[in-house]
Amino acid sequence: MSTIGTDSTTAAAVVSAGNLVAIPTETVYGLAANALDTKAVIKIFEAKNRPFFDPLIIHVPDASHFEKYCSNIPEIAYKLAEKFCPGPLTMLLDKKEIVPDLVTSGLPQVAIRVPKHPLTLALLQQIGFPLAAPSANPFGYISPTTAAHVEEQLGEKVAYILDGGPCEVGVESTIVGFEKDILVVYRLGGLAIEELYPFADKIEIRINQSSDPKAPGQLKSHYAPRKPLLFGNVEELTDAQKGKKIAVLSYQKKYNEHTKVLSPSGDMQEAAHNLFAYMRELDAGDAELIIAERFPDTFLGRAINDRLERAAAK
Ligand code: TXA
Ligand code: MG
Repeated sequence: MSTIGTDSTTAAAVVSAGNLVAIPTETVYGLAANALDTKAVIKIFEAKNRPFFDPLIIHVPDASHFEKYCSNIPEIAYKLAEKFCPGPLTMLLDKKEIVPDLVTSGLPQVAIRVPKHPLTLALLQQIGFPLAAPSANPFGYISPTTAAHVEEQLGEKVAYILDGGPCEVGVESTIVGFEKDILVVYRLGGLAIEELYPFADKIEIRINQSSDPKAPGQLKSHYAPRKPLLFGNVEELTDAQKGKKIAVLSYQKKYNEHTKVLSPSGDMQEAAHNLFAYMRELDAGDAELIIAERFPDTFLGRAINDRLERAAAK
């Protein structure tokens, strides 16, 4: 059992001693350790059962810290930082020697971001090192958006859970990298790519579907409930599953009495905020399978579709 509390000073003491703390962010809860201490970082991989070829994001208290850990930072990164840090944006930048290879899985670039949550920012301001933190879920399962989600699944493996309430955004950060004059999006996330349009003439969405260790990115099957999940048009999918006990995860409409509606008013931010918590509820319920509705492919709908598609992948 771990301790759950709201004291960033206790959390700071735990990570400073080389142990794991679960941290709230605006996106999802993270499983954090001192990014500069390889022994502590190994504990993250072990607790999550995460393969070492899948690199970690480092978290810093503000964008002025980027220069401590990254070099050759392009002008556009500074502009993005000014607008979106803190916020649900992660940037891939050339790493400096000080960042252990374990954190980047041997890659020359490190993923870095400034999380937007007062408790975690207070924690980061008290310690003299960045926090490496993946989402605080067992590898491949649904990401946690409350302290209780973390406790349920990793409770025995984390010394302290910093409880910052339910995560506001609800899906992971958007990950971008820079290539000459192209802004490359590697993960669709809590910052809609429409928000990035003013910053680059060319934006390329390059979502990696493979599990090739040389090209880390998102695995095809991820964010998955234990129950089978089908993704697409609810009516068509329901027709094809007659006789089965079905739960529906919908955007706005109540399809049957076992429907969880993500946002009755059609607000994608509200839908993203509820997504992972509702998936967990349906996974714990007594339906045989979950049918999830496809969202419009704009704004946060893109990130929601991405998560549901991976949740549906075998
Ligand atoms: O919102 C978030 O980003 C959350 C919170 C806790 O900050 N973190 C998160 O971490 O989602 P994680 O580990 O679950 O996902 C990180 C993704 C992985 O798909 C990983 O492959 C990619 O970022 N990544 C990390 N470092 C990378 C690098 N150096 N090069 C390419 N991809 C990288
Ligand atoms: Mg994750």
